[in-house]
Amino acid sequence: MAQYKIRIYRDEDFETVREVYATGFAEHLHAVYLQVLKQLWVQLTLASIFIALLASSGSLLLSILGVTLVLLASREGVRFLFGQGIQLGLNEDLQDIRKSYMQGDRSCFWVAELQGVIGGTVGILSAKDEPGCWELKRISVRKEFRGQGMAKALCKTALDFVINQGVEDVVLYTSMVQTDAHQLYRSVGFRMVETFVWPSLPAKLINFMVLKYRYRVLA
Ligand SMILES: CC(C)(COP(=O)(O)OP(=O)(O)OC[C@H]1O[C@@H](n2cnc3c(N)ncnc32)[C@H](O)[C@@H]1OP(=O)(O)O)[C@@H](O)C(=O)NCCC(=O)NCCS
Repeated sequence: MAQYKIRIYRDEDFETVREVYATGFAEHLHAVYLQVLKQLWVQLTLASIFIALLASSGSLLLSILGVTLVLLASREGVRFLFGQGIQLGLNEDLQDIRKSYMQGDRSCFWVAELQGVIGGTVGILSAKDEPGCWELKRISVRKEFRGQGMAKALCKTALDFVINQGVEDVVLYTSMVQTDAHQLYRSVGFRMVETFVWPSLPAKLINFMVLKYRYRVLA
């Protein structure tokens, strides 16, 4: 198996890094839509629409078609919100990766490269809300590069970097649908410390949970 190498971010990686992040994020659309369908209020709404259509038209076919259209429309709604979620990251730290991560010694960004192709990314910076603590962000590996320890190696690179800075505490946030990442975080030594519903109306409506993980260097 060819060996990938992990190296520090360069300006020419900008578009690829954003693309690796966006495609990794977009993969979870289906899981989020399933979370929508699991909600009792959604199921009751769909059942009510079905009964109302059946009662008013007397046609089973029309009722099924009506519910199918509602399902398709709601999937498009989830897709739209998902696009906004992706855009949030692109407009945040990934808007200017050099400025966010590559200035000073308090942050850094890496890519994993195999035969000249960027397969994975990770960044680390000071946590906004927790002084003295750092945050691991933007871990993503292209599908075709998965299962080779690339994400683990990227996480370890970021953790070694902060350990050398004398940092004792690293956090990260992930979500209930990013299940592949949960094992990754446990395997590099993170422990889940908190779960909460993402503070936005759509997230509250579907009970969309965020998971906070913590890594204590001295633990
Ligand atoms: C999560 C992700 C980064 C893992 O990348 P990867 O390079 O395949 O992971 P690795 O090969 O380094 O595996 C690391 C650990 O995670 C585990 N793992 C990886 N994918 C897994 C999966 N689908 N199911 C269960 N465990 C998995 C591995 O078994 C390994 O555990 P181990 O060390 O105990 O054996 C990748 O699936 C991804 O990019 N997903 C989409 C983006 C995303 O969700 N990012 C997380 C943002 S919070």
